[in-house]
Amino acid sequence: MSEQKLVYVCEGGDCSEKGSGDLHDNLKEMLQAKDPSEEKVRVRRYPCFGGCECGINVTVWPDRLFYSEVTEADLPEIVDQLVADGPAVERLCNKVQPDVEEMVWSLLDSPY
Ligand code: FES
Repeated sequence: MSEQKLVYVCEGGDCSEKGSGDLHDNLKEMLQAKDPSEEKVRVRRYPCFGGCECGINVTVWPDRLFYSEVTEADLPEIVDQLVADGPAVERLCNKVQPDVEEMVWSLLDSPY
């Protein structure tokens, strides 16, 4: 069985203004339909990733996927990647500065 994934949706000011609250709820609903017991994926909110100009930002851990400029239209592909181990949604990757990504991964990799 593959490792459980943790998906974080930014709820910082910029991402919220772009609709990250609704995006979080819709993503959660779509995932619950496919993975009701959250065996494969859990969704959480995150205060701010520091890549605000590229929001809405969504990260997938431990896969180290940093999705930016995410819209509702991207959710089916993201859900497929998460639940069915589909390919990463490449067009949403590599938009924030590499040091922003590294900072996020070091925080998420930390056991504390
Ligand atoms: S508000 Fe979303 S990354 Fe800062």
